[in-house]
Amino acid sequence: MADVSFRTDIRPLFTQTDIDHMSGLGIELDSYDYMSQPANAEAVYEALAAKTMPPDSDGGPWADEQIELFRSWMTGGYRP
Ligand code: HEM
Repeated sequence: MADVSFRTDIRPLFTQTDIDHMSGLGIELDSYDYMSQPANAEAVYEALAAKTMPPDSDGGPWADEQIELFRSWMTGGYRP
């Protein structure tokens, strides 16, 4: 998918529960400035792709299509 946007396509995939829990651990899922740093995006991607995050207590892993969309956002250049 071309032209994947953080604001339009990626940010809405994170629930308020995701954001609140991970903010407490220093991972700012709702922040473009944080998420657009490649090392941070990679760590989030690894957790999504390994399906360890989000935890089952929060609805469980994303669908493969959503994980692929996140990856496309990264390979597409972290568009805002
Ligand atoms: C899409 C949503 C989420 C993403 C992308 C995410 C991402 C991550 C990442 C990247 C780590 C670090 C793993 C590591 O160091 O290897 C992590 C750890 C953690 N997350 Fe999340 N998280 C999400 C949702 C949540 C939620 C909803 C909770 C709590 C209900 C949660 C609880 C934790 C805890 C307790 C840890 C530290 C222990 C561990 O690594 O398992 N996360 N998460």
